[in-house]
Amino acid sequence: MQAKISFSDPSSTGLIVKLVVQDSGHGHKVPKSFTGKKFETSFLADHNTLLVGLGKEQEIKDDYYRRCGARATKAASALKFDSVHFAADGLTEQSCNLLLEGALMANYAFDKYRSKEEKFQRIGSFSFPKSMSSCRDQMEKILKVSQSIYLVRDLVTDNSDYVTPRHLEDVAKKIAKQHRLKIRVLQEAQLKKLGLNLFASVGRAGNTPPRLILLEYNGNARPGEKILLIGKGITFDSGGLNIKVGESIKDMRMDMAGAATMLAIMNAAAQLGLKKNLVAALACAENLVDSRSYRPGDVIKSYGGLTVENLNTDAEGRLVLADTIAFAAKKYNPKVILEYSTLTGAVLGALGSHCAGVVSNSPEYSKKLFEAGMETHELVWELPLFEEYLDETKGERADLRSIGKTRSNGTIFGGAFLSKFAGATPFVHVDIAGTAMLDEAKDYMPKDGSGFGVRLGIAFLEKI
Ligand code: BES
Ligand code: ZN
Ligand code: ZN
Repeated sequence: MQAKISFSDPSSTGLIVKLVVQDSGHGHKVPKSFTGKKFETSFLADHNTLLVGLGKEQEIKDDYYRRCGARATKAASALKFDSVHFAADGLTEQSCNLLLEGALMANYAFDKYRSKEEKFQRIGSFSFPKSMSSCRDQMEKILKVSQSIYLVRDLVTDNSDYVTPRHLEDVAKKIAKQHRLKIRVLQEAQLKKLGLNLFASVGRAGNTPPRLILLEYNGNARPGEKILLIGKGITFDSGGLNIKVGESIKDMRMDMAGAATMLAIMNAAAQLGLKKNLVAALACAENLVDSRSYRPGDVIKSYGGLTVENLNTDAEGRLVLADTIAFAAKKYNPKVILEYSTLTGAVLGALGSHCAGVVSNSPEYSKKLFEAGMETHELVWELPLFEEYLDETKGERADLRSIGKTRSNGTIFGGAFLSKFAGATPFVHVDIAGTAMLDEAKDYMPKDGSGFGVRLGIAFLEKI
């Protein structure tokens, strides 16, 4: 159920939220012990009011409003309120929009497998002062985008036995039907016939066969000028014959986060009526183990003709993506490719979970993505693609090797490898392995599937 938004006086049964700036001499009703430090909260039961600190005035950042909105929502839910009203004091249109964004992102839990008593109580409505009613259009947009974020979280967090390549196809078809998008799915036999051998090899031992899902949204009156969105959709990554040892394998149902996020961006773009022509290519497969598994050491010929020495079956993402990039770039001739993948564990070592890693052949577009990251606070940081890194991808028994000679610079190697398949097309690779699934919740990101990348992608599209 979608939360309601209104511009009205607070309801008698809802929670009233007041933001307090530290050291602002904030008058009456504020208890002495409450200083307004950033994210400090205090519930005044007599007044159904929650105070939330913003910190010192000069130090307030935009993202604090999202975080305050999130804290208010979680507190309201825990206190069993059904609605939240943000009180006027010092709010601007911009801060109201940010508050709502954070509130909606926090108004979520993956609780489908929980018994009734433990389900998260969602807030049914958010209200703002009447004087902020000029925010209505922007807020409707934020509400739509939040639905797409929930979709990604649901898909990333749910079981890999349920979210299979077939399931992703079903969801994509449903979205296509809803928004009248063009959809075409290349099934396993067609992948082989067309020569997407890297892709087909990875999915060969899957319980559900691999497939490439292609979706088109035409929101721009001018035809031509397509933007290609590519996502890694490995619905379970066991590592293949180079099977993953240790704990990390249990998280590998999230290895389709790139595909889910691109699908959600298409959904949001269509809902918002974005004036762009978009193509999404979702590379879906299971990386499993049986006698049909593809094998380490074999050379495989890619769609574009480049041959690849497959040195480790756990480096499967770059293989399905390489064929997808080459195939879709040729078919659609896009002006830019934006690609999301949970590609390397190494990106966690470099950037942790606060920021995604970027590798790109286009300073112009990677700058735009960086700016989109700063605006949405879905942060990205670019790693270099110097010639030396590209040289490392040279193979011995084939044109390319699939992994580096050493374990160093794993994230750049992955990006460098992929860029070989983009040719001269501007290409922005975003490694979301650290950000797509979280071990611990943040203010407006839950544990497990975070939904990272939806707002980032939309902000990027709006800029180009
Ligand atoms: N899906 C993994 C990367 C990953 C790791 C995602 C941790 C999320 C969290 C990817 O397919 C993989 O296994 N990469 C290998 C590459 C290596 C074999 C060159 C890795 O990162 O170890
Ligand atoms: Zn892998
Ligand atoms: Zn993987």
